[in-house]
Amino acid sequence: MKQDFKKISSQVVDWYLKNGRHNLPWRKKVTPYRIWISEIMLQQTQVKTVIPYFNAFIKKYPTLQKLSLATEDEILASWSGLGFYRRAKNIFAAKEIIKKNHSNKFPSQFDSIIELPGIGRSTAGALMSLAFLVPQPILDGNVKRVISRLIRKNIAALKEKDLWELSTKLVNSEDCFSYTQGIMDLGATVCTKANPTCNACPLNESCLSAFKVPQQVNVKKAKNKKIILMSFALVQTKKSLLLTKNDTESIWSSLWIPFENSKMQSHANKLELTRNEKFRHELTHRSLDLDVNIYFSSKEFKLDTNQKYEWIKKDRIEDYGMPKPITKLIQQL
Ligand code: ADE
Repeated sequence: MKQDFKKISSQVVDWYLKNGRHNLPWRKKVTPYRIWISEIMLQQTQVKTVIPYFNAFIKKYPTLQKLSLATEDEILASWSGLGFYRRAKNIFAAKEIIKKNHSNKFPSQFDSIIELPGIGRSTAGALMSLAFLVPQPILDGNVKRVISRLIRKNIAALKEKDLWELSTKLVNSEDCFSYTQGIMDLGATVCTKANPTCNACPLNESCLSAFKVPQQVNVKKAKNKKIILMSFALVQTKKSLLLTKNDTESIWSSLWIPFENSKMQSHANKLELTRNEKFRHELTHRSLDLDVNIYFSSKEFKLDTNQKYEWIKKDRIEDYGMPKPITKLIQQL
């Protein structure tokens, strides 16, 4: 069967106009700034998780001008619990470049956009198509799956170059906004990994995989995840919590976390052990086994350390960037 990519592309547009998720907050009011923030958040996180973070971020920083005044720590605080914190640091670095080199206006040229930290070819393509209405291909996980099924090839058997070529052929020059959002929605809601609903798909007449058993898509082997042991001492007074800014380059870099248990030994005389919590927290590529001693101290004390630390007032916790398991633990105190 000869496949007509132009026709397929316009079928995606028609389907999006009727069936797309038009209510997603970054689609209702479109600005380059809002598209940028949403695309960065959506890089490694599902839509339903991103929505409340996106809304809160935009409430705090409604415009690029407002964001331009933020510190890296403030941006990390808005990212608390969302994971892949490198993205928040990249947003900080990118807005500094935009301030310095682009008069604090989001650049509209592909070559300038792709130079910003955190933006690769696909995100730059999405920004061009969605924010500037200049048709450019995208190639995220969903799109790879849709187009490889379309030609009934295994994703693993296709080279990046071939995938980009296919994605480029599908780009829609009449309505690149609806096409780009549409191909993403199709992948997320119809052409899903395990249970594609081919009878609801606008491409089922031209798709070489339609109504066939889905090809094996990279099933991740959870059992190969590395387990990391972490042992913390979470110290609280009545009004504050002792946390340190993680200055290592490992996971949770630049976030606020409790000191390691071993670092608190020299202060044992001031501490009363109230509880111990052991639990596992799953990250995408690692499992963390946390062992947390929860201590009470009748007053704040000074520590002899090079590490940056603070006794953070309990009602100011939201102003600090923290990983999800630590936030959860604090909420349960
Ligand atoms: N995933 C990446 N970008 C997206 C978008 N704009 N809408 C929905 N899901 C996405």
